[in-house]
Amino acid sequence: MKELTKVEYILDGKAKGKVKIGGWIENLRSSGGVQFFIIRDGSGTIQATIHKDNVNKETFENSENLTQESSVIIEGKVQEDDRAPDGYEIEIEKLKILQIADEYPLGKKEHGIDFLLSNRHLWLRSPSQRSVLKIRTTIIKSAIDFLDDLGFSRVDTPILTPTCCEDSTTLFETKFPGGKAYLAQSGQLYSEAAIASLGQVYCFGPTFRAEKSHTPKHLAEFWMLEPEMAFYDFEDNIGVQEGLITAIVKNTLRKNKRELKILGRDTKKLEKIKPPFPRISYKEAIELLQENDFDIKYLDDFGAPQERFISKQFEKPIIIHRFPTKIKAFYMEPDPKDPKLTLSNDIIAPEGYGEIIGGSQRISDPKVLKKRIQEFGLKKENYEWYLDLRKYGTVPHSGFGMGLERVVMWICDTGNIRQTIPFPRTMGRMEP
Ligand code: 4AD
Ligand code: MG
Repeated sequence: MKELTKVEYILDGKAKGKVKIGGWIENLRSSGGVQFFIIRDGSGTIQATIHKDNVNKETFENSENLTQESSVIIEGKVQEDDRAPDGYEIEIEKLKILQIADEYPLGKKEHGIDFLLSNRHLWLRSPSQRSVLKIRTTIIKSAIDFLDDLGFSRVDTPILTPTCCEDSTTLFETKFPGGKAYLAQSGQLYSEAAIASLGQVYCFGPTFRAEKSHTPKHLAEFWMLEPEMAFYDFEDNIGVQEGLITAIVKNTLRKNKRELKILGRDTKKLEKIKPPFPRISYKEAIELLQENDFDIKYLDDFGAPQERFISKQFEKPIIIHRFPTKIKAFYMEPDPKDPKLTLSNDIIAPEGYGEIIGGSQRISDPKVLKKRIQEFGLKKENYEWYLDLRKYGTVPHSGFGMGLERVVMWICDTGNIRQTIPFPRTMGRMEP
């Protein structure tokens, strides 16, 4: 409806005088001859009052029947009021009730996470969840804008795939005419094909992993942004990662002040996020952990407590680089100074939020790649097309994947990844 004014405009001081708003009653109370409502319209929430003395008898009586989450269209005057939650309120003159909502199951008391997840379709309306989703929107747009400004093209890679990109133990298998298919763990191999056509590309879409462990940081379906760049080496790759994360944080701080406040986020910590990010090699990280009594050996992967310890040593995201070949994916370029290592890096978010980025320079020599495919026990026939990319004009190239929900989780400082995506899919849950 064109004639509706967005609450956001009113709160930004851009709409004065008479307005018409469509929304839901998020909260309500009455005091004497006044009813107080918090109205949510999708762009924000605002206090609206209805005074017995200012409206006709029928309108006031109707307003007394309203319940939480009833849907309404109101008309009234915008007033500046220091006592109102955001400095503005609306004095209602006309009230159109679209529906009196049934008794709402959420919000009267504290609920456990299972109850909230079972009611995710309703929980999405709460101030905290709304704020997280608004910030998620900013993060996506900032990331895409950042890459667009650098001249990247978007390449949409397939979700049904015949091969494995990352870890064969976490593949989701599905039927496919004449055999089986796997849900994509990453679009990387296809993006690598596209760089010879478009130079710098990215794919952005859902990726799937049948994670074995239930943790607060793992989803079975998550969104990954994967830039892939021709003629970018290991250092160039890190430069894009630092720029991307910095742009995301800067934009969120600028655009989502209200939401960060609702979430109680300590924004001072985010204001420190500027390049260069500190660096530590995999070997140094293992030594640091061993010196601090962690039971970890060279070639072990970092667990959550180890990642948390490392991240607590720094105020910015940390770059861990040069992982051993044995513990990383097959396609990573060997380090010329020590071929047992790869030109790879992860970025660990500060404040204990764990890995937000994984990337590397890719093997460009066809012989080395062929050998690596064998060593990793992968079926060569499945990777013929990927080997073709090294036969017809191979070039040095690099790329990385940023886990969107991990970044949302860190920036919003939410304890659990399930709150960072509208309808989370974890290994134990697919409802609603
Ligand atoms: O480190 P990963 O496995 O890297 C890749 O998939 C590469 N092919 C990316 C590339 O180079 N194009 O995953 C990348 C990121 C991780 O750093 C993490 O942020 C996120 O994806 N991630 C998950 N997020 C949520 N739930 C899970 N189960 C995740 N697994 C990985
Ligand atoms: Mg990784």
